[in-house]
Amino acid sequence: MAVSRLIRRVILGCYASHPKAKLGESAKYTPSKLRARIKRDRDAVFVAISDRRIVGFCVNCRDDGVLQLEWYGVDPAHRQHGMGQRLLQHLINSGRRRGCHKVWCDTNAENRASARVLSHAGFEPVCTLENHWYGQDFILWQKVIPMMRVVRDEEDSHTVSRPAIRLVRTFAPRERTLVAAAR
Ligand SMILES: CC(C)(COP(=O)(O)OP(=O)(O)OC[C@H]1O[C@@H](n2cnc3c(N)ncnc32)[C@H](O)[C@@H]1OP(=O)(O)O)[C@@H](O)C(=O)NCCC(=O)NCCS
Repeated sequence: MAVSRLIRRVILGCYASHPKAKLGESAKYTPSKLRARIKRDRDAVFVAISDRRIVGFCVNCRDDGVLQLEWYGVDPAHRQHGMGQRLLQHLINSGRRRGCHKVWCDTNAENRASARVLSHAGFEPVCTLENHWYGQDFILWQKVIPMMRVVRDEEDSHTVSRPAIRLVRTFAPRERTLVAAAR
């Protein structure tokens, strides 16, 4: 399974991570484990494709109304071309479509590239977890997914925006060609 191989390669090549943590993490995304996740939730894994090759991935976990970004990554040869940003946008759109009001994740505090991409996508750092997983510092990030609808305010008859339960939105054609569910 190509996506499993890419995930393993990206995780093991991650400069900002403890060696034992990398081994433990990559073992979570074997082909059989990925298949089981996709069976439970068809949107849990999606990939970015370029020239018919898988060059990026995103693994996420929906927990009722909250979406956890577990891992995303891009093949080193395809980095710095906006692919990471596109993956996060697809994740946010997917969260909205799945009725989630928030996406969250944690990143190693030394992972500057990911911090940059998360910030561009509108994630905000919540706090730093010092001496956390394998003694490393982690930053906790979140992004509230705006779900607004226009309603008529009865009292002053002005049109106002209020949170809605769910906003169904279709993907832009460009995004549909780039990002596909990993099935
Ligand atoms: C994080 C990652 C997915 C970004 O993918 P990408 O396709 O290069 O992302 P983009 O092209 O959308 O954006 C890259 C941004 O990071 C910045 N960047 C790259 N390396 C950097 C570094 N070492 N320090 C600071 N910023 C860095 C780029 O300048 C760019 O920011 P800009 O748009 O302001 O110029 C990719 O680096 C990766 O796969 N890393 C290893 C796996 C990983 O760390 N995943 C996240 C775990 S939470």
